[in-house]
Amino acid sequence: MLLRILGTAAGGGLPQWNCACPGCTGARREPARRRLHDGLAVHGTDPASWFLANATPDVAEQLESHPDLRPRADHARTPVVRVVLTDAELDHVLGLFRLREASRIEVWATVPVRRALLSQLRLGTVLAPYTPLIWHDLPLIGESGPATIAGLDVEALPLSAKRPRYAADEPADPAWSVALRVHDPHGGGTSLYAPALAAWSDAFAKEAAQADCLLLDGTFLAEDEPRRSGISERSASGMGHLPIEGPLGSAGRLSGSAPALSYYTHLNNTNPLTDPGDPGHERLARLGLRVAVERTVISL
Ligand code: MLT
Ligand code: MN
Ligand code: ZN
Repeated sequence: MLLRILGTAAGGGLPQWNCACPGCTGARREPARRRLHDGLAVHGTDPASWFLANATPDVAEQLESHPDLRPRADHARTPVVRVVLTDAELDHVLGLFRLREASRIEVWATVPVRRALLSQLRLGTVLAPYTPLIWHDLPLIGESGPATIAGLDVEALPLSAKRPRYAADEPADPAWSVALRVHDPHGGGTSLYAPALAAWSDAFAKEAAQADCLLLDGTFLAEDEPRRSGISERSASGMGHLPIEGPLGSAGRLSGSAPALSYYTHLNNTNPLTDPGDPGHERLARLGLRVAVERTVISL
């Protein structure tokens, strides 16, 4: 399997259009620091076959910037686009509207995510005049067995009941936010993608320890970062994102058991790690962890 990292930023991207924090200012000064919204393209053994993990507001530029994701010379257009969603957050779903030129969009989502997109965002009503939207249930680990997408086995681990703000009235459900486990039945590799990890659980620890590649929530470096940077009165974990460092941090939890390929993604623009010179990078490297770089291709 091949994982193409299409973007590595949290909602807003880096720089965020309305923000002049040190991270956004640094990215304007040094374009190499810019980050698009986090998402992946995942290929099985057939390089022409792939699916997206999340459809970000940047999706069209993300597809265009990877030659292997552009329409093939022997097809006038990319016929079908397949999208697997980890949640219903705007930074992970707005790209579905941008994909309306597809001749068909196939979406794998959990029940609450699908319901939010249909009833709150009216995705089905809006896209119907443009392209068919085909829904598939995203199977949960241990339930009905994996979905086969682009020749890969895909299942989800429920992580949290945190709903998007626009769906606050929707019912609670443990599968509002999930980690995606992708297993290659031919090559044998397994990846785990969790851009929003609200709490550390035994189930998540087990999946992480068994993965060959982990792409993990790196929204905030510290638990008090949202408050210190003035973006929220809540803590990082209170916003649904375990911090990387500190007593609650995912880095300490992973220390000693992190897969050899472990990357933080979904970085918020307040995260000091958006500066490549930040000493936090060395602290993570000592634990075998690193921050994902835009456009990295990981082969498993
Ligand atoms: C999140 O990752 O917590 C959300 O995308 C935040 C938001 O933009 O509302
Ligand atoms: Mn987000
Ligand atoms: Zn900023």
